[in-house]
Amino acid sequence: MDVEVAVIPAAGRGTRMRPATRALPKAMLPIVDRPAVQWVVEEAARAGAREIFVVVDPGVGVLIERHFNSQEEGPLAGLEEVTVYPIVQDVPRGLGDAVRTAAGAVGNRGFYTLLVDNLVYPDGDVLPSMAVAAQAGSVVCLRELGTEFLARYGFIVPGEWRDEHIVEVLGAIEKPGVEAAPSKLGLIGRYLFTAEIFDALDHTPPGVGGELQLTDAINVVGESGSCLGYVACDDLLDAGTPSGYLEASTVLGAAHADFGARYRAFVTEFTEGL
Ligand code: G1P
Repeated sequence: MDVEVAVIPAAGRGTRMRPATRALPKAMLPIVDRPAVQWVVEEAARAGAREIFVVVDPGVGVLIERHFNSQEEGPLAGLEEVTVYPIVQDVPRGLGDAVRTAAGAVGNRGFYTLLVDNLVYPDGDVLPSMAVAAQAGSVVCLRELGTEFLARYGFIVPGEWRDEHIVEVLGAIEKPGVEAAPSKLGLIGRYLFTAEIFDALDHTPPGVGGELQLTDAINVVGESGSCLGYVACDDLLDAGTPSGYLEASTVLGAAHADFGARYRAFVTEFTEGL
């Protein structure tokens, strides 16, 4: 499937990242030398997205505009072909609602969705493989995760395996916990949706935490028989917690083209002294 549109839900209070997020939106926290949201915009652009909608809280659109569309500073390197549009989610009603906010802008086109908390390792892109796997329906990115994730992530109900990496998705449960876990295959923050997801979101009641959950809409799409899972070869970084944020900064800093080598030498020397 050719995909030229991406939706990046970047609204939400960022409570796992207090106190850093008391005044600053989580998506604008710097990781190495750029805000978290720029890492995922770049990833979507590498996969062919040219129109990228970033869903934000009221008041944050101006920061997205200033960062990505500054007339004064000009386009960001590598993003010259991309247009980034902020879309405001008026009230925080959950991840599913954030994605639904972009429905009018996306229309009937297939689109990537990337969560800002989850960042790919250098050379670990998954969107191109998901686009190849996509037939008529949606594709969600999966990894086999440990039990510590069962109360934090969404997990799918697997059906038949098409090959080593592709599995049919029959349903999905948000934060199932150990008791209700349908599998070890967790949703790791990358999705390729058809417009069918908007229909599903329109008919999904609030779920965990009283919020409209994207996973519950994936469950509807899965039950209708048109969702596949792509099991990624690598983990993704989870920069949505303070310790994960530090790890992401280290991994991405160590791979930086300009100062990665110096940083690696520093980390080696520092850890040897511990
Ligand atoms: C969200 C999704 C969840 C997914 C996770 C990945 O959870 O709802 O299904 O597994 O991101 O990071 P949240 O971080 O909003 O709790």
